[in-house]
Amino acid sequence: MTTEFTTHLTEAVVDSIEGTSDPRLRELLAALTRHLHAFVRETEPTMAEWERAVGFLTATGQTCTDTRQEFVLLSDVLGVSMLVETVNSDGREGVTESTVLGPFHMTESPARELGANIDLVGGGEPCVVSGRVLARDGSPLPGAVLDVWQANAEGYYDVQQPDVQPPGNGRGLFTADSEGRFRFRTCVPSPYPIPTDGPVGDLLRAMGRHPYRPAHIHFIASADGHTPVTTHIFVAGSEYLDSDAVFAVKESLVQDFTETDDPSLAREFGIPNPFRHARFDLVLNPVRS
Ligand code: BEZ
Ligand code: FE
Repeated sequence: MTTEFTTHLTEAVVDSIEGTSDPRLRELLAALTRHLHAFVRETEPTMAEWERAVGFLTATGQTCTDTRQEFVLLSDVLGVSMLVETVNSDGREGVTESTVLGPFHMTESPARELGANIDLVGGGEPCVVSGRVLARDGSPLPGAVLDVWQANAEGYYDVQQPDVQPPGNGRGLFTADSEGRFRFRTCVPSPYPIPTDGPVGDLLRAMGRHPYRPAHIHFIASADGHTPVTTHIFVAGSEYLDSDAVFAVKESLVQDFTETDDPSLAREFGIPNPFRHARFDLVLNPVRS
C-alpha cells in the first residue's frame, strides 16, 4: 500500500463531497471520511475482517424492530450516546446534569397525582422519591412536568414483560405543585442487564464485558421557559456504579435512598414503615435568548 495513493484517495473522496448543498452535512461527511480512512490506515484490516464488520453492522440493522433499536444500543455500549449527550448539554454550573435517554422511553407515561404509587405490582422495597423542580436562581418552578420511568424490582421494564406487568407499571407523568414540589411512591430499583440476545450482546461477550446497568430511575423534567433535562438518579451503593455498561453515571446523579423509620412520615406518605426515601432537587436552565 503506498501512502501517496491512500492520501490521494482520501482527498478525492473529500473533494467529491464538495457539492453537498447542506453545509453541515458536507462538514459531517468530510470529517467522517477522514476519520474512517485514518482508522483503516492505522489498523489495516484484512478483507475477512472487513467482511466480518459489514456482517456485524448488517445483523445490527436486521435486529431493529418497532420496539427494539440495536443501533442505539451499539452507540450506547461504545460510549457514543453519552458523548453526544454531553457535547449537547448546556453544562452551566448548578443545573442538573443530563444522561442517556435509553431505549425504554417508548410508551407515554400515564398522568398521575402527586404522591401516587408507580409500582402497580408491589413486591419490591417501598420507597418515596421527593424533591423540588427549581430554576438555576433557586426559585421554584410551579407546574413543572416530570416524566418518570423505571424497571421493576427484578430489573425489567413493563414493555419487556407485557404478560407479567400491566402497561404503565413503573411510569408516571407528574405535575409539580405551586412550590415546584414533586413526590411519588415506588419500589427501590435494581441493577439490570441491557438486552444481550443480539449482535451487541455478542460484541459485549467478545470484549469480556458485563451487560449490567446500576440501579436507577429515569426522569425528563420540563418547565415553561426552561430547557428540559433528560437524566437519571442512581441508587447510592448500587452494584455497577463504577462499570455501567453504557457509561452513563455522573457523580452528581448518585442519590441516597435513605432507610427511614418514621411512622408519622410513613402515614403522611401513605407508605408502610420503614421505607427508603430519596430526596433531591432538579434544577433547570432558562432557555437561552
Ligand atoms: C436504560 O437505562 O433504560 C438503558 C440505557 C441504555 C441502554 C439500555 C438501557
Ligand atoms: Fe433504565
